[in-house]
Amino acid sequence: MRATVVCGLGGHVPPRLVTNADLGEHLDTSDDWIRSRTGIRTRHMVSADTATSDLAVEAGRRALKSAGEAAVDAVVLATTTPDRPCPATAPEVAARLGVGPVPAFDLAAVCSGFLYALSCAAGLIAAATADRVLVIAAEAFTTIIDPQDRGTAVIFADGAGAVVLRAGTPEEPGALGPMVLGSDGEHRDLIEVPAGGSRQRVPHAPGEQYFRMRGRDTYRHAVERMTAASGQALARAGWTTEQVDRLAAHQANARILDTVAERLGIPAERQLTNIASLGNTGGASVPLLLADAAADGRLRPGHRVLLTAFGGGLAWGATTLSWPRLGPVTDPRTP
Ligand code: UT7
Repeated sequence: MRATVVCGLGGHVPPRLVTNADLGEHLDTSDDWIRSRTGIRTRHMVSADTATSDLAVEAGRRALKSAGEAAVDAVVLATTTPDRPCPATAPEVAARLGVGPVPAFDLAAVCSGFLYALSCAAGLIAAATADRVLVIAAEAFTTIIDPQDRGTAVIFADGAGAVVLRAGTPEEPGALGPMVLGSDGEHRDLIEVPAGGSRQRVPHAPGEQYFRMRGRDTYRHAVERMTAASGQALARAGWTTEQVDRLAAHQANARILDTVAERLGIPAERQLTNIASLGNTGGASVPLLLADAAADGRLRPGHRVLLTAFGGGLAWGATTLSWPRLGPVTDPRTP
């Protein structure tokens, strides 16, 4: 079977930087509460004229540049915040990147969207439908957040990350390991936007057009699912936890990340994080974290990396790879 190999990486966040103090101007919250409960100090947010496709195009452009070759056979865009309900955002992104008329489609798995999209792209490559796939995870997440809901407004943020994947062999650096994915729709109400879909077309009560999260329950499921999925991915790859050089988990909340690392037995210095400066960017957080860490040298060729994510659906996933040598990766904060 053909393996799927990472050969390019890029990340991008919108320039508008919002501090905890900025949020405290219109919300009953504090820098101390936000830092101690979530680990977040700053985050980047889109301005009114920026949509998900704008973030996706810039991250995609950077990933293609890092890959050194602009051609791909398919574009998969993981997002919770498409530019509009119909059509998908990916065809526009492909066209603006100049890689059309390749197949391009959106994938909805909320904070696990990047891992689901990796798996989907690996399937396209394994079936020889594509030799090279651009996977982008992009979120203008703050556009679905109620600015008055202090339980979510302090956590979620905007950004995009992208990888270029190519057909290769399982022994190569950058080859994706076995993929563990799961979902539990019984708990779909833990994270939801109640209105705006075919079930409930318009809000029946104020605020139902916004994202809602039952924080405590979500927290518990996030720890359990990311820990279990990571253990399964390691077992399937034949790796021990001692062999993991870098844990790259969805940047949900610093306390969740610490607990997952502790339960897995991965020491703090092997955990990659950037939640303090970029917040929780939904599905974009894992590729943004990889781009951030590759740019500043925390992630280096040869590192054995464990990826995991969890979010609405519920949906979760995990996989492994040995980090490859890539073309230059820029700091996602670079304008
Ligand atoms: O990315 C997708 C997956 N998402 C996650 O994994 C997020 C999971 N959940 C969490 O990260 C945490 O549950 C939160 C950060 C959302 C909340 O932290 P918590 O420690 O679970 O707080 P809580 O919701 O139990 O609230 C504790 C108290 C409450 O006050 P009372 O009832 O004890 O008086 C809240 O009203 O903190 C209050 N509170 C706040 N206070 C100041 C909630 N949000 C805030 C806030 N500022 N922003």
